[in-house]
Amino acid sequence: MLDRARELDAADPLGAYRDRFVVPEGVIYLDGNSLGCLPKATPAAMARAVEREWGEGLIRSWNEAGWFGLGARVGAKIAPLIGAQPHEVIACDTVSANLFKLIAAALDMRPGRNVILSEPGNFPTDIYMIQGLERQGLATQRLAPRDQIPAALDDDVALLMLTHAHYKSGELFDMAALTKAAHDAGALVLWDLSHSTGAMPVDLNGVNADFATGCGYKYLCGGPGAPAFAFVAERHLADLKQPLTGWFGHARPFAFSDEYEAAPGIEQLQCGTSPVLGLTALEIGVDLIAEIGIGRLYAKSQALSEYFLECLSQVGIDLDLISPPVSSERGSQLSFRHPQAYAICQALIGRGVIGDFRDPDILRLGFAPAYLRFEDMAEAARHLAEVLGSEEWRRDEFNRRSAVT
Ligand SMILES: Cc1ncc(COP(=O)(O)O)c(C=O)c1O
Repeated sequence: MLDRARELDAADPLGAYRDRFVVPEGVIYLDGNSLGCLPKATPAAMARAVEREWGEGLIRSWNEAGWFGLGARVGAKIAPLIGAQPHEVIACDTVSANLFKLIAAALDMRPGRNVILSEPGNFPTDIYMIQGLERQGLATQRLAPRDQIPAALDDDVALLMLTHAHYKSGELFDMAALTKAAHDAGALVLWDLSHSTGAMPVDLNGVNADFATGCGYKYLCGGPGAPAFAFVAERHLADLKQPLTGWFGHARPFAFSDEYEAAPGIEQLQCGTSPVLGLTALEIGVDLIAEIGIGRLYAKSQALSEYFLECLSQVGIDLDLISPPVSSERGSQLSFRHPQAYAICQALIGRGVIGDFRDPDILRLGFAPAYLRFEDMAEAARHLAEVLGSEEWRRDEFNRRSAVT
C-alpha cells in the first residue's frame, strides 16, 4: 500500500507545494477543513506588518501600507476562486456576522416576504442567525429537509440560505438547480461556502447566485479566527442595505459625518475597523491557494479521498460512510458514523492522525489537497485499522471529553 502511495506522490503535480506549508513532523493532518495549515510565508509577512507597518509606520500605514483597502484587496483575490468578479467580494468580519448582514439585506430587498428557508442540521451559526433576526421580528425561520426544499419555496420566502458542502457529511447541494428554483419562486439565495472555498471551484456568477460568504481559516489557510469573506452579485450592489451600518461601510468614513451614507460598492459590507493583522495572514493563504490553482486542488482532493477509501478496503475496514460515495457529490472530506467516534478520534490523535469528531457519532476526516500526500492516506488508513482492530479506543484517556472537541 505504501509503495503505491509513494508512486502516486511521485507523480503528483502538487507534491512540491507541501513544502510551502508548516506540517508538523509525525502529524497526518486531516483537519484542514477546520483550521488550515500555516503557510511558511505567513510568519515573515506578519512580522513585517507588526514591526514595520505597525511598529514604525503607525497610523501612516493606513495609507502607506494599504491597510485601508486591505479587505477589498483580499476579497478581489478570493473572487476568482468562487466564480466572482473582484468588486463583488470583500474580506471582512466572520461568516456569522456576514450571514446576519446578508440575510437582513435580502429581507430588505423582498418586502412583503419574511421567511428564510434553510435545512435542519445546517451549520448551527447559519440557523442561529435566522433565529436572531426572528427575535427582532424581522424574519421567520423555515427549515425543510434537503429533498423537500424546492417544495418549501413559496411566496413568503425572501431568501434560501444553504451551505454548499455540508460540514458534517460533506454532501453538496446542486447550486445551479437550487438557485434557479429559488429565483423562480421570487426568492434570493445566499450560499455558505465555508467548506468549499479553496478546495473546489465554485461558480457563483455562473449559477446566478445573489449572496455568499465563507471562512478564511479553513482551506484558505488564513489562520485561527481569520476574517471571512462576503459576496454580493454586482446587480445587487446599488440596492444593498445592510443593517450593521458601521463607519467602515460609509462612503466617506473620514468625513466623520453624522449621517450614514453607504459606500456604493462591496465596501458597504464592512462594519468597523478592518482586522489588519488577520487580513495580512489571510492574504498569504489566499495567494498560495490561488497560485496552486483551484482546478488542480479539486482534482487532487478527489483523488485523495478516493484513494483513502481504497486504502480502507485494503486494510479490511468497512465503516459506515455518511458522505456521498461518489467524489463529485461531496466536498473534500469523508465522514463515518460510529458509536465510539469520539474515542476513535482521540485514539487517532494520540497517534498523530488529527481528524475531528462531530457530535454525536461522526468521525470527520478532511483532505486539504494543498499539503496532504497519498502516503498520508495509506498511513491514516493503517492507523485507523490498528485503532479499531485492537480496540485501543477503549482506553480511559480517549474517552474523557474536553471542552473543544
Ligand atoms: C459551514 C460553516 N459556516 C460557518 C462557520 C462559522 O464561521 P465563523 O466562525 O466565521 O462565524 C463554520 C465553521 O466551522 C462552518 O463550518
